[in-house]
Amino acid sequence: MSGASAIDRAREALSGAPRVTVLTGSGASAESGVPTFRDAAGLWQQVQLEDVATPEGFAAAEPNPAHRALAALEDRVGQVSLITQNVDGLHQAAGSGRVVELHGSLWDLRCTGCGTTRSDHRVPLPEVPPRCPACGEWQRPGVVWFGEGLPPGALEEAAQAAREADVFLSVGTAAEVAPAGSLPLLARQAGAFVVEINPQPSAVADEVDLALRGPAGELLPRFVAEVGPAR
Ligand code: APR
Repeated sequence: MSGASAIDRAREALSGAPRVTVLTGSGASAESGVPTFRDAAGLWQQVQLEDVATPEGFAAAEPNPAHRALAALEDRVGQVSLITQNVDGLHQAAGSGRVVELHGSLWDLRCTGCGTTRSDHRVPLPEVPPRCPACGEWQRPGVVWFGEGLPPGALEEAAQAAREADVFLSVGTAAEVAPAGSLPLLARQAGAFVVEINPQPSAVADEVDLALRGPAGELLPRFVAEVGPAR
């Protein structure tokens, strides 16, 4: 299918959709200069994690047109549920409302002693690791490390949004990491029209209804602005 007609089909699917659920991965932030993980140029291939996955590494990142288009979608369809695997906070910075951060946020600090989680956007932090103002113990990044559980309730909320979606957009994720990677399939099994926006086929590429092959920052603005008004 040619790019234009695929874009038209995506616009038609979204126009008037009562419920749209969006899953984003690191590819949605790639055009903000935030490295992906498994791409040829991904984080796991080329740089030391401590060199980039730090507040300083993310501080310079700004929302790109993909983030802004997803925020704008909220004014054009019935209800948007945005689920992200990203920890960079760029969806919120672009103006998206409710964002389910499946893997936490780099801008949250969680105390290893009392468990209190606080948002902290200071760059750099006055001391590393920072100490909890309440109990004095070390604070760690409020992100989900491999082998850890997701934030309580996040997966349930994401799964419900996938099941209830009329249209499900999978944006910039290889869909290789469970359980987030299974959300597009859950949505499709529940009857959603699933659109993948990614220059490369993801692990669920054979299961989507429509694939838009290209950068999210270029493709999303091409159809979101013309999505018909909410029913
Ligand atoms: N627009 C859209 N998609 C893009 C772009 C872009 N500009 N650039 C790259 N991509 C796609 C790649 O083709 C790839 O499919 O983004 C995807 C990035 O995949 P990964 O690097 O695996 O990142 P992600 O799917 O977000 O990883 C999920 O794995 O390492 C853990 O916790 C980490 O949240 C992360 C999770």
